[in-house]
Amino acid sequence: MTQEFHKEAIRNAVFSLIGNTADELKIDTYVIGGFVRDFFLNRKTPKDIDIVAVGSGIELAQKVAAQLQGKPKVSVFKNFGTAMIKHQELELEFVGARKESYNRDSRKPLVEDGSLEDDQNRRDFTINAMAFALNQRNFGQLLDPFNGKKDLEDKILRTPLDPAITYSDDPLRMMRAIRFATQLNFNIETQSLKAISEHKERIKIVSKERIVDELHKIILSKKPSIGFKLMHQTGLLPIILPELKALQGIEEIEGQRHKDNFWHTLEVVDNIAENTDDLWLRWAALLHDIGKAPTKRFHKKIGWTFHAHEFVGSKMVYKLFKRLKMPLNDKMKFVQKMVLMSSRPIVLSEEHVTDSAVRRLVFDAGDYVDDLMTLCEADITTKNPKKQKKYRNNFKIVRQKIVEVEERDHIRNFQPPVTGEEIMKVFGLKPSKEIGIIKDAIKEAILEGEIPNEHEAAYQFMLEKGKYLGLKPSTT
Ligand code: CTP
Repeated sequence: MTQEFHKEAIRNAVFSLIGNTADELKIDTYVIGGFVRDFFLNRKTPKDIDIVAVGSGIELAQKVAAQLQGKPKVSVFKNFGTAMIKHQELELEFVGARKESYNRDSRKPLVEDGSLEDDQNRRDFTINAMAFALNQRNFGQLLDPFNGKKDLEDKILRTPLDPAITYSDDPLRMMRAIRFATQLNFNIETQSLKAISEHKERIKIVSKERIVDELHKIILSKKPSIGFKLMHQTGLLPIILPELKALQGIEEIEGQRHKDNFWHTLEVVDNIAENTDDLWLRWAALLHDIGKAPTKRFHKKIGWTFHAHEFVGSKMVYKLFKRLKMPLNDKMKFVQKMVLMSSRPIVLSEEHVTDSAVRRLVFDAGDYVDDLMTLCEADITTKNPKKQKKYRNNFKIVRQKIVEVEERDHIRNFQPPVTGEEIMKVFGLKPSKEIGIIKDAIKEAILEGEIPNEHEAAYQFMLEKGKYLGLKPSTT
């Protein structure tokens, strides 16, 4: 094998310090994994840098830290035989080279000391098993026993060992394969893909948090559909996101068909990825139609319906987040709100766009109205150019009107221009249902455009409404 050196990749002085320290300890050391891969991909240097030592990683880390400016703390994880140092922006993770065998029912490996080759063997993909030597005698030498560099050029994800062993050793790697394929636009080698299909059930022993981390990375990729197609193809989708799998398929009754909502959803997610990097808005795009599976009905006269799927879908968001141990906080509420409101602008765009409909939309969506519009624009997947044009145009009008209405009426964070206290004072009332009726009538009048969102107009309206309810302004 020809020797290849890449000293330019490890210019940062910390690498020669690690190498020299290892020389003193008479051990070999290497930078390995994502750092090497990303160097060849011309990606930004990752913050986490993995250093492997053929010997004690902990001892090496301690000796390195003692020589670094400011003598940073070494966090030691004895059980794992690892140590971490924060240096500049970097997190240097030291580990002793290992030979591992796994327990079949958990991801926790049984660790034994090993050589560099042993360590490379137990890594997930050939492109993640490359190392640069750091000792003085071979500083910068590439150690690439599985031709990871060639796989990088060919855009292929391949496991160093038989894929059945690599995936069943650590089933999270099945999701990592799909995630890397999505992020890097790589193909998963055929045998590997087959092994994922065969071992898919083993994903169940992986913690939800780690699966979700991979899902987030897939969703944040340039073209998330790549990952979801692979999950579908390998059979991981029904295990991890059965709600999406349930959207797949087209039924036909009496010659009437509905669209395949799974493939439609993937188009929507790819569309929205072009316009936003917001993880939760992308999640909303992924889940916007999940209520369609349980609400699907066929009616002889009108064909297929998905009545109230937005409402049902927003309830399903909670269950899905809970199952996947995702945060049940304002992020989830945001996704729920987007799903719940996902058809509102579409209904608007199908008809003549009135000011009052736009005011209601802004009132209900509040600060999220722009996100909602971004979602709905992504939802246009019709292949009919005439319809495309019509929807896009109408959404443009809706967006324009949102700005106009907002400038004029300030509906976005609506505060009633006349307060309940004022109503009580004017009519000499104690807390009672009349106050709610009047407040509601004022809000409705504003949304309908009968009165502007201003105190004076609302006050006059309140007096009239009070009169209609048989109330008299008190003299005080
Ligand atoms: N690795 C592995 N199996 C895993 C996780 C990680 O073999 N399930 C190995 C790979 O060699 C990987 C390295 O550990 O390159 C570091 O893992 P990690 O920091 O999780 O990932 P990166 O490859 O650095 O990529 P990213 O930062 O994009 O997750």
